[in-house]
Amino acid sequence: IPVDTFDLVIFGATGDLATRKILPALYRRDLAGQLAEGARIIGAARTEFTDDTWRAEVRSVLDETLPADLRDTVALDRFLGRLGYVPIDVRGEAGWPELAARMRADVVQAYYFSVGPSLFGDLAQRLHVHGMNTAECRIVVEKPFGHDLETARALNATLAAHFDEHQIYRIDHYLGKETVQNLMAIRFGNMLFEPLWNAQYVDHIQITVAETVGVAGRGGYYDKSGAMRDMVQNHMMQLLCLIAMEPPYAFEPDAVRDEKLKVIRALDPVQPADIVRGQYAAGNGHASYLDDAENPASRTESFIALKAHVSSWRWKGTPFYLRTGKRMRARTSEIAITFKDPPHSIFGAQEGQKSNVLAIRLQPNEGIKLKVTIKEPGPGGMRLVEVPLDMSFAEALGTSDRDIADAYERLIMDVIRGNQTLFMRGDEVEAAWAWTDPIIAAWESREEVPQSYDPGSSGPEDALMLMHRDGRRWREVKP
Ligand code: BG6
Repeated sequence: IPVDTFDLVIFGATGDLATRKILPALYRRDLAGQLAEGARIIGAARTEFTDDTWRAEVRSVLDETLPADLRDTVALDRFLGRLGYVPIDVRGEAGWPELAARMRADVVQAYYFSVGPSLFGDLAQRLHVHGMNTAECRIVVEKPFGHDLETARALNATLAAHFDEHQIYRIDHYLGKETVQNLMAIRFGNMLFEPLWNAQYVDHIQITVAETVGVAGRGGYYDKSGAMRDMVQNHMMQLLCLIAMEPPYAFEPDAVRDEKLKVIRALDPVQPADIVRGQYAAGNGHASYLDDAENPASRTESFIALKAHVSSWRWKGTPFYLRTGKRMRARTSEIAITFKDPPHSIFGAQEGQKSNVLAIRLQPNEGIKLKVTIKEPGPGGMRLVEVPLDMSFAEALGTSDRDIADAYERLIMDVIRGNQTLFMRGDEVEAAWAWTDPIIAAWESREEVPQSYDPGSSGPEDALMLMHRDGRRWREVKP
């Protein structure tokens, strides 16, 4: 179903995010027939392109980057025909009157702030001065949303000066991932899991986001953030919320976001002994973190593992183990719910009897796997064995990874539809920083140096100990 027609302005249109994510996502939606006739995309940046030279630029980028089966001359021409460009000085006056003149009053108006957060205030202010912050227009902002609670609050206040909360779309692209939304479908669309989804039946939960890439090329940003700010405060926090939250009364923006907020507020402070930070060493032909970050004295973590507790009626006593890192053994993201053992084994102590595990793979090969115990086939008596009930979504639904829309495709369409369910509300972001800040302050005050780990490993040894200490084990990081 096509979304309403729109004028979408991309500030920072020549930047990396616009080129790599936003424009290809819009093209793919156009190819799928979702962009209404008359929908327009206006690039705005410092470079002096005209409509035509920018179109040529976008054409060459798409030509280079689109997979062969998505290249369609007719669709590409149609898409390029939607593009326009206005050279603009975000901090000055140039370009603004021209941009204002291009905006149509009778269509959805959206402004994508694909620029550094230091420019958000200027953009908001200019849109206001030039009368473009109409009551129903929308702005889209990217992470990092602040560096800590104070800066996040300041950003929220800056945006709130000119826009209402219902107009602000804070992107966390993890919320746009197919399987992340599926998490809600699995929990709230089935009767099977929800009765067991609590501390009485769940032993612990593991959330892993492992990456094989390093930080070369973006060390300037990353070295000031580290894994805690780059991944835990936002993406992993969102995953934790979706697992831990109470059923919202409806799949509606504030209903969902209210429940997520309660989870964040129920998070206990994390003790230093429950945190392991790591930094990748050189190896396998790759440079070390210190070289990639071009900061030989860096104490920033490229890996973090921690144990969190949600102090709520539902979760008291069930730990959430979070782990994420760069240059790890494989690129894999998954959430694993390990259930408790049956209270009494009528089969006596048996090797084959393991706890049930529900593993939800976010990437690659999205799917869910439930490990159950059955009888080993054959006449050899009652011997137990663990087998997976495995379902790959691609196999079950006959889809390929390609069919599964990129997170940005879904999220941008949601902006146009005016649906904020998969976007973070201001208070949510602030609550997440309020939990994160003291954790970071504690290790900074101790001037703690992260432990070194080998590239291609599962992180520092101590991360394994974090689990062993509790009589548990991380699941293997495998492709
Ligand atoms: C980004 C982080 O938000 O998410 C990156 O800044 C990280 O450091 C990326 O690599 C991971 O996203 P995905 O979709 O590849 O899992």
